Amino acid sequence: MAYSYCALAVALLHVLTAACQTPAFNVTAISAKDNASRLQCWQLDAKPELSRAAVNFDLGEFDKSFVGIIPPQTTGGTLSNAQAVQYSLVMAGQVHVTTPYSGLPDELNEVWVEGGRYGFLIAADTVDVASHGHITEFPSHERTVIAQFPVKGNKAPEHSVLHEGPCVMADFEGW
Ligand SMILES: *[C@@H]1O[C@H](CO)[C@@H](O)[C@H](O)[C@H]1NC(C)=O
Ligand SMILES: *[C@@H]1O[C@H](CO)[C@@H](O)[C@H](O)[C@H]1NC(C)=O
Repeated sequence: MAYSYCALAVALLHVLTAACQTPAFNVTAISAKDNASRLQCWQLDAKPELSRAAVNFDLGEFDKSFVGIIPPQTTGGTLSNAQAVQYSLVMAGQVHVTTPYSGLPDELNEVWVEGGRYGFLIAADTVDVASHGHITEFPSHERTVIAQFPVKGNKAPEHSVLHEGPCVMADFEGW
């Protein structure tokens, strides 16, 4: 009995420690400013919550989510906008986004997103806020698979801007 209480306490401590050490959730956003799309690294206001032996971040509610399968080497993209504010989870393949009209230095206008662990994006550059949109290409030799979760109410999640340009590895160290 004593042993199992201890085991439970240790397990609980483990999760609590993880929560205390868990930094906030950062995500690359295709955002907009001055009527043009731009890349930003957002830190969501969502607080880490402990349950089911995990640290969880509330992503809110979605509307008509779907998954898209894009053929290999789909390049030659044209300027476009997010249809709605949505989370995009790149599960496989590769996505290359550029924002040529942001007014920011060139090195902040491009992101390569590989499917998998770092495949989380938010698209929020709807045409009403970004007359000049972004260009997306899917250069992988394999299909790109993206699960899309439009945010209910078409409203960006509460966040702060960590910096202009996409998130970099330092922004994903706890991910
Ligand atoms: C954005 O630019 C477009 C085209 O130049 C223009 O029609 C529109 O009024 C602009 N929107 C804002 C909010 O400035
Ligand atoms: C979010 O970004 C900050 C600043 O770069 C970093 O310290 C933190 O570890 C990042 N969070 C995660 C979960 O990687």
